Amino acid sequence: MMKKIIELLEEEIGIAFTECGYEKELGRVTVSNRPDLCEYQCNGALAGAKKFKKAPLIIANEVKDKLLSSGIMTDLEAVKPGFINFNISSEFLAKYLTELSKDENLGVRKAENPFSIIMDYGGPNAAKPLHVGHLRSAIIGESIKRIARYVGHNVISDIHLGDWGYQMGLIITEVSKRMPELPYFDDKFAGEYPSEAPFTVSELEEIYPFASGKAKEDEAYREEALEATNRLQHGNKGYIALWNHIMNVSTADLKKNYDRLDVHFDLWKGESSVNDIIAPMVERFKEEGYARFDQGALVIDVSKPEDKKEIPPCIILKSDGAALYATTDLATLVEREKEYKPDQVIYIVDKRQDMHFLQVFRAAKITKIVPEDTKLDFLGFGTMNGKDGKPFKTRDGGVMRLEYLIDDIDEKMYQKIIENKEMEPDEAKEIAKIVGLAAIKYGDLSNQASKDYVFDLDKFMSFEGNTGPYILYTIVRIKSILKKYSEEKENVCELEEDILPANSEALKKLSLDLTEFSGVIENAYKELAPHKLCAYIYELSNDFNRFYHETNIMKEENENNQKSYIRILELTKNILEKSVNLLGFSAPDRM
Ligand code: ARG
Repeated sequence: MMKKIIELLEEEIGIAFTECGYEKELGRVTVSNRPDLCEYQCNGALAGAKKFKKAPLIIANEVKDKLLSSGIMTDLEAVKPGFINFNISSEFLAKYLTELSKDENLGVRKAENPFSIIMDYGGPNAAKPLHVGHLRSAIIGESIKRIARYVGHNVISDIHLGDWGYQMGLIITEVSKRMPELPYFDDKFAGEYPSEAPFTVSELEEIYPFASGKAKEDEAYREEALEATNRLQHGNKGYIALWNHIMNVSTADLKKNYDRLDVHFDLWKGESSVNDIIAPMVERFKEEGYARFDQGALVIDVSKPEDKKEIPPCIILKSDGAALYATTDLATLVEREKEYKPDQVIYIVDKRQDMHFLQVFRAAKITKIVPEDTKLDFLGFGTMNGKDGKPFKTRDGGVMRLEYLIDDIDEKMYQKIIENKEMEPDEAKEIAKIVGLAAIKYGDLSNQASKDYVFDLDKFMSFEGNTGPYILYTIVRIKSILKKYSEEKENVCELEEDILPANSEALKKLSLDLTEFSGVIENAYKELAPHKLCAYIYELSNDFNRFYHETNIMKEENENNQKSYIRILELTKNILEKSVNLLGFSAPDRM
């Protein structure tokens, strides 16, 4: 397992601090925030000054002098008021890169004690088409899942469908109006129910909004739907059979759509999965005194004295005895605890649900559903807005179906690609899909999850600037140089040569970037922040392209130099490809 550059530097500088009579811990190193002055800095002398009652600049000078013979650091300087500035030795960096290029994890260390993690994302409601509102949870969740796995954790993803409750009652009621002859509504029916669903997914998607609208105007209809919900939840055989059809038709369609986004779930559970857990759980809450009745409703108090704002009680049962959203989420934690004993559960849901999750998390700990040290994380994401700053809509103001949005992007990208390059339509279509997906995903992930952002398709699809296509373009560029090189040279396969010390500023900067991959990945997991990975690969791509424009790699006459460049190119490509894979997309061979 490889150490990080920063760690190696800290070890060395820590020894120098001890040798001068100070403490090892003062040798903290950071990447310089003034790259024009130096690559790294250590501010330990400033912290040491107070403790050792000595001028910081004196300490900095002493430590610097000790480091003059270092094999890792060069250009050491002690500067006012007490910083130690330095660069990394190009020889050392080249050795480090050689090792890095042979490391199958690109320097990333697998967690020593892997967590068992459940990720709850996606969260669509059955029988409704996916729309752009579902995009963020799917994209962010998928990326965090991949990153967490890459750092060595065991992750199980659960889509947590909204597949129970009133919405299902509405559909059942409307189907009973349209097709009253079906056996599902005949309580005396004793035969086998049909194996074929009585509706297609498009019909289903029309039925739900219709029923929902009708129930708002027609009180009797609403009553009927509530009654149907109740019967379903109490296990009415015909309704359960019909519900199974709804679920099969609907999940097949959801799967198709998530597949197109390259988003995958290990578990397709939902609110319905915990129906049987709710009653005993609620019973226990009452028996063990965690819940109390408040105006007929059963609630759990979750406020704490130190709260700055009021946190209302978590409602478990309405006064009519019906379970609520928080109830299913608590029951789901009961089930997850029983099945997986997770160390961490990560929910990726619209940030407007933050109060709900705060209440659920507190209630889960108060009622001892999960142990005190289980991490319950809510990553709330902001709204995807249109260019007008309001939530993204279709041109006529409706909600944009995800399918249509993706079709639209694929088509636009296709046009762009054939304008750029001569290509067979079939190949161009395949590539358009790959690049289109990168455009949407990177466009989303490059923004901090919690912030609202503007879904600006033209910008996201551009081949220049901070976009997915630009990153892919960089990867494609590297691939094509590597291809050319392997076509022109014969014995490339034995390319075992060491990477040579950087011979230009651009190459040094690129090299430094490459060493930072592991730290970026570990941090992106810790902070649940894929946008940090995006920022990293954008800088890496820019620095690569600068090197590329300054260096004529294919015409380099010194063969050893050229081989070294090629090794750097391979490493850059591997890191960029790994990164986009962790973000949830991939690179074509050409575009
Ligand atoms: N189906 C929910 C909604 O549409 C999102 C589910 C999020 N996950 C959860 N465990 N509550 O708002």
